Amino acid sequence: MQCCTVISALHLRIAALVLALSSCFTVNVSAQTSPATIQFDSTTGVFRIDAADSTYVFGINEVQGLQNLYWGGHLAASDHFAAAHSMPELSSFELPITVTPQEYVGWGGGLYVDPDLKITFPDGNRDLALKYVSNRIDGDTLSIVMKDISRDVYVTLNYQADGETGILRHSATIENRTGVPFTVEQIAAGTWNLPRGTDYRLRYLTGRWAGEWNVQERHIEPGKTVLESRRGTTGAQNNPWFAIDREGAGDQDQGEVWFGALGWSGSWQISVEQDQLQQVRVTGGPNAFDFAYLLKPHEKLTTPDFYGGYSSHGIGGASRLMHRYEIDSVLPRHPKPKLRPVVYNSWEATGFDVNEAGQMALAEKAASIGVERFVMDDGWFGERRNDHSGLGDWYVNQQKFPHGLKPLIDKVHSLGMDFGLWVEPEMVNPNSDLYHKHPDWVLNFPGRPRTEGRNQLVLNLARPDVRAYVYGFLDNLLTENNIAFLKWDYNRNWSEPGWPAAAPDSEKNVYVDFTNNFYSILVELRQKHPNVEIESCSGGGSRVDLGVMRYTDEVWPSDNTDAYDRLFIQNGFTYAYSPGVMAAWVTDSPTWVNSRSLSLEYRFLSSMQGALGVGANLNKWTREDLDQARTMVAAYKSIRETVQRGSLYRLIAPENNSEQSVTETVSRDGKQAVTFAFLHSSRELYPFPLVQLRGLEENATYTLSMIAGNVDDGTPVTASGSYWMHHGLGLKLRGDFQALAFTLTQTK
Ligand code: DGJ
Repeated sequence: MQCCTVISALHLRIAALVLALSSCFTVNVSAQTSPATIQFDSTTGVFRIDAADSTYVFGINEVQGLQNLYWGGHLAASDHFAAAHSMPELSSFELPITVTPQEYVGWGGGLYVDPDLKITFPDGNRDLALKYVSNRIDGDTLSIVMKDISRDVYVTLNYQADGETGILRHSATIENRTGVPFTVEQIAAGTWNLPRGTDYRLRYLTGRWAGEWNVQERHIEPGKTVLESRRGTTGAQNNPWFAIDREGAGDQDQGEVWFGALGWSGSWQISVEQDQLQQVRVTGGPNAFDFAYLLKPHEKLTTPDFYGGYSSHGIGGASRLMHRYEIDSVLPRHPKPKLRPVVYNSWEATGFDVNEAGQMALAEKAASIGVERFVMDDGWFGERRNDHSGLGDWYVNQQKFPHGLKPLIDKVHSLGMDFGLWVEPEMVNPNSDLYHKHPDWVLNFPGRPRTEGRNQLVLNLARPDVRAYVYGFLDNLLTENNIAFLKWDYNRNWSEPGWPAAAPDSEKNVYVDFTNNFYSILVELRQKHPNVEIESCSGGGSRVDLGVMRYTDEVWPSDNTDAYDRLFIQNGFTYAYSPGVMAAWVTDSPTWVNSRSLSLEYRFLSSMQGALGVGANLNKWTREDLDQARTMVAAYKSIRETVQRGSLYRLIAPENNSEQSVTETVSRDGKQAVTFAFLHSSRELYPFPLVQLRGLEENATYTLSMIAGNVDDGTPVTASGSYWMHHGLGLKLRGDFQALAFTLTQTK
């Protein structure tokens, strides 16, 4: 059964971790980490996972359900847990099953909170009572088999603990051994239960095109908050990430935070529920809205991964753990993914109007400022003159490139750069050869309108023929051309999500099969073309999640490239995702976004907080601009490893209408710290707030060096970590839209 083997294969770890039992744990993320330990006490039926700074405990209760007992800071090895016991029946209205903190629960027996699994069987039965069967511990992984009380529905819960960050990866595999097909109507990867309490605050991310990554906060009340996408893909409306802390008890770098993220690029949901007994639980998986998956006999369905972590170092600490985990355990080539090269991208310079001579001219200028990768964006293929035509026809446009792509690629190589290309594989313009030939290949309901977005329709990637076509043209493109990088775009969400060629009872499998085919194409392409890197772009940041990040090297956070707006966008992005995957271009001023004018220096410094790129029309840049750009690109290369791999501290987050924004990143080896500071406008002669650094070694000596701008007169060049962290330093930032950056380098 194709889809199921694909799903399982996707979850195989590329690298095995070295495992050993140990009772020694690090308190903070550092170079020194201990492996995770997983223990099962067969007398009490209690499972205990210790990893980095956290402990996670659950047990088999008296009705053979799995019940959470603890999730939080690391406990002593001598701390023991009694056997799990369901909450007693509070009243005939609050049955034990619904008020007990369940680890993974089927819908049945009076459950009123979100279930992890809901099934309709062909005989109409919809009751599912999952009971513990067995477990297996294998180093840092734990698998637990559960089964329905009478039907042969098997659920295997998979846990993997990361010894470096304490992050747990949780998923479930459903297996149909009943002999008849049944329909999965709701499925979650698992549920995270927090310590009982009423003082919790939820942080989450919201957005839209050109306005992604807004950090929201709300008090967790009795009832439910659902973060979700019903769009067929991840979306920017919400991002599948959450963080919960105790109100008033923490800040950027202090206090307890429970956080998590769902690795799924299809429609998804994370529900945050506080039940009648003030238990907060967070359940995540594919979105239950309009969902169904027909699972035939002997088939398996594996959920996406739901990641959960704990930090006692505030929301900043939680972000740092996420960043570290993404780099070391999620991205392709982990734990050593390649540093992001400095990219030039043609989109804002030329739009669809690309051609050989124009791209070559831009490439020459890009190479002269130190760019390492030249990327040609939209417009190179089919009859693509604008966004009305051509999508789906992946042949090189002969008018624009009479000799194919080779002359341009050769030119780019001769300039010492590698070459990247834009594609949007899952889309088609009705005005294209592909659509004329295969109008049935798009998502649609027969006889109903086909709603267009940006004049395009969504190809149904769940169909085997569409999958073969998409893989085939990408494979050809990469085989026939020396391409180092694909920018994989996706410029609309779903409408009319029908799959008429499928049997009516399995049409809704499209939600899972589409996304898994997308992943499997990425996997296969990477296997066949191991040197090719890929960016996940969706008209900006609408497909960023830990699912796609397993197969893509970087992401595009937003089409909004205004360097001031970007401070907010990048700030929100880094709550969940690493600056090491965050592409950030320097573009022209005044910007198309809002006509704002900003100095070239400001624009560079804003972008240098992520994976630096240039997306401007270099033909319009003066000699001085190009000289300055060359200097900034060179400076970036000297701090790139710190920015992309280090520990990020938000010294002043540009939230709550703050006039300032300051970030500091400390390299993994602790030898370099890079600080970027931005001022929107100064008022009433107030100086810029004193900047007190974090994460340095108190007794080490650090030397200050400016990348741009100036610090206050009298600031020492060399001082101790204590000095920079406790005394701090004043910055000469006055006026409007000012910026500076400096490094501190450990000299002793
Ligand atoms: C949307 C992307 O986000 C842009 O960077 C650009 O690639 C356009 N699509 C091209 O159509």
